[in-house]
Amino acid sequence: MERTFVMVKPDGVKRGLIGSIVTRFEQKGFLLIAMKLMSIDRTLAERHYGEHREKPFFGELVDFLTSGQVCAMVWEGPNAIANARGLIGSTNPAEASPGTIRADFALDISSNIVHGSDSLESAQREIGLFFDGAQPPGLLFRAASDGA
Ligand code: TYD
Ligand code: MG
Repeated sequence: MERTFVMVKPDGVKRGLIGSIVTRFEQKGFLLIAMKLMSIDRTLAERHYGEHREKPFFGELVDFLTSGQVCAMVWEGPNAIANARGLIGSTNPAEASPGTIRADFALDISSNIVHGSDSLESAQREIGLFFDGAQPPGLLFRAASDGA
């Protein structure tokens, strides 16, 4: 069993797509572990996308991520990281396979509505960044025994 970090980006929240995206994860069989609607500041956005710091699109990416609320989530399931990336589809919606979230709901690479962790290390790092343990656990996290 594995956990991954998924985030509906500001374009997805503004367009009212949280429900559609959550539905796809539920229908696939993932278990929702944690979820919160939040604003993220530039420091958190820069840390989240730290691997892209030197890329030409980094500034616009941080502008975009801080342009409105996001919906941060943790989903659990077998091979959750790879399976979530499969549901989400290729980075560029124009190249994503039909039936994936990005193919079905987005047009542009710079606003591709959803993020999913790309490795075990990223998933653990991103879950730690967004759900830092300072939150009341009873409100945000399902008890371990609830899920099975
Ligand atoms: P990346 O981690 O490569 O993609 P993914 O989200 O599929 O893991 O890039 C992070 C985000 O940066 C991506 O979702 C959209 C944005 N981005 C651009 O705006 N332009 C680009 O050329 C690339 C590669 C990404
Ligand atoms: Mg990535």
